Amino acid sequence: MPSCRGLGKTFRIDGRNVVALRDVDLDLPRASISVFVGPSGCGKTTLLRLLAGLEQPTSGVILRDGAEPSQAAAERTRVGYVFQEPRLMPWLSVARNVGFNLEGRLPKVEIATRVADILSIMGLTTFASARPDQLSGGMASRVGLARALVSNPDLLLLDEPFAALDAMTRRRLQAELVALWQRLSPTIVFVTHDVEEAALLADTVYRMESGAIVARYPNSIPRPRDATDAGIVALRRAILAGLEEKAEPTSVQPSTLKRGTAS
Ligand SMILES: Nc1ncnc2c1ncn2[C@@H]1O[C@H](COP(=O)(O)OP(=O)(O)OP(=O)(O)O)[C@@H](O)[C@H]1O
Ligand SMILES: [Mg+2]
Repeated sequence: MPSCRGLGKTFRIDGRNVVALRDVDLDLPRASISVFVGPSGCGKTTLLRLLAGLEQPTSGVILRDGAEPSQAAAERTRVGYVFQEPRLMPWLSVARNVGFNLEGRLPKVEIATRVADILSIMGLTTFASARPDQLSGGMASRVGLARALVSNPDLLLLDEPFAALDAMTRRRLQAELVALWQRLSPTIVFVTHDVEEAALLADTVYRMESGAIVARYPNSIPRPRDATDAGIVALRRAILAGLEEKAEPTSVQPSTLKRGTAS
């Protein structure tokens, strides 16, 4: 599935260059779960937006299926995206929010069937005609997930999808996500600040810092996984130790600011 070579993204804010991503080399194996952790501003969302094609790199490439990046290859990849802030349209029902991106692209009957299926899987059937403001936070998160899943994506990008939820709901949705993944086998890229969540979900955890991937933690602990499992606890500690090492404020060198500047 997708790989990145020398991927970089520099933004210009008030005449200043902000390096959001630098020199990222990454292979995301088909049907794997890759989880990204790292402090606020280290480039996680930027990486997802580049993978989704919502943003163009300032350096490097994203390859699809190991081939050169081409419009055709990009269009063949169905991407589902759960945004960091839930972007439900408040004036539309749950069902229409979920099916919205398919409208005009598929026959109405097919959209209705797909939406009904995914709402049923996510336990939202009885809320199909509710409005987003009538939902709890957990339900709204599930609607966001349902909307990303309804197109049966090959690549599923999730940006802190459970961040606003209580611990119990979060655990349940994590289990639901793994069950869906086992059934539909999308390639998942998941961003979180919750190190336990990272250890529970990932085949590989990546730790980022200042726009770069600085550590990689493979995780072959068999599923279903338990947060109290010794392997999970050890992995969580290792990631946390890495994050805490870097907890002091970092100063960005002027020389690194210039690298990867947009041409
Ligand atoms: N559209 C944009 N225009 C200008 N700068 C941006 C833009 N998007 C991101 N940045 C900058 O890129 C850097 C990385 O931002 P990004 O949103 O990727 O961080 P993040 O790791 O997702 O952080 P968080 O954990 O807070 O969500 C930040 O310095 C941010 O200011
Ligand atoms: Mg972010």
